[in-house]
Amino acid sequence: MIIAIDGPAASGKGSIARRLGAHFGYPHLDTGALYRAVGLAMLQENQNLDDSDAAAKVAENLPLELLDAAEIRTAEVGEAASKVAVHAAVRKALRGFQERFAGQSPGAVLDGRDIGTVICPHADVKLFITATVEIRATRRHKELLARGERIIYARVLADLKVRDQRDATRKEGPLRPADDAFQIDTSNLDIEAAVAAALTFITSQRT
Ligand code: C5P
Repeated sequence: MIIAIDGPAASGKGSIARRLGAHFGYPHLDTGALYRAVGLAMLQENQNLDDSDAAAKVAENLPLELLDAAEIRTAEVGEAASKVAVHAAVRKALRGFQERFAGQSPGAVLDGRDIGTVICPHADVKLFITATVEIRATRRHKELLARGERIIYARVLADLKVRDQRDATRKEGPLRPADDAFQIDTSNLDIEAAVAAALTFITSQRT
């Protein structure tokens, strides 16, 4: 069973994806980490994030060791990830890795922006996770502070708005719910309630 989970930054999709992976015993791929790894490598090499060819080369030789690196979680790398994610050649270079991950037996959970629409259009379950931008900014701000980053709430909110806009309006793989996605608004839900809503939907789909 493939579970495809999409949604904007800090919507809770990553936490829900990890919980569902653990529940079903499936591996989980945070596909945002792939774009973050490319963004970080570009920053480290002092490359121009708008240079599609340079970004595609980095993506083709994906620095897998960066996927678990703490440095990919900074606000700066999130912004860089969203800039390199605009390039069609980058998205194409990262596609095979995601498709192979999704093809694992007996199942896999992937979260990102275009999983239900582009990477796994035939996924058994598609979820689209949302929350108001203010609530998402509050969550992301807390996470960044906990990691020791010095950043004010207003900056996180402004960055998220820019990122949402860029992710939703790009030509390739824009952030949008698949037609057959089940939407969960986590603005007023804690993680337990959000996972419960997802599991209720998945159970209803399988019976
Ligand atoms: O999910 P996360 O915030 O870590 O993703 C960082 C950026 O990577 C996003 O803003 C988005 O531009 C890009 N991304 C994407 N497609 C995905 C996952 C992430 O374009 N499937």
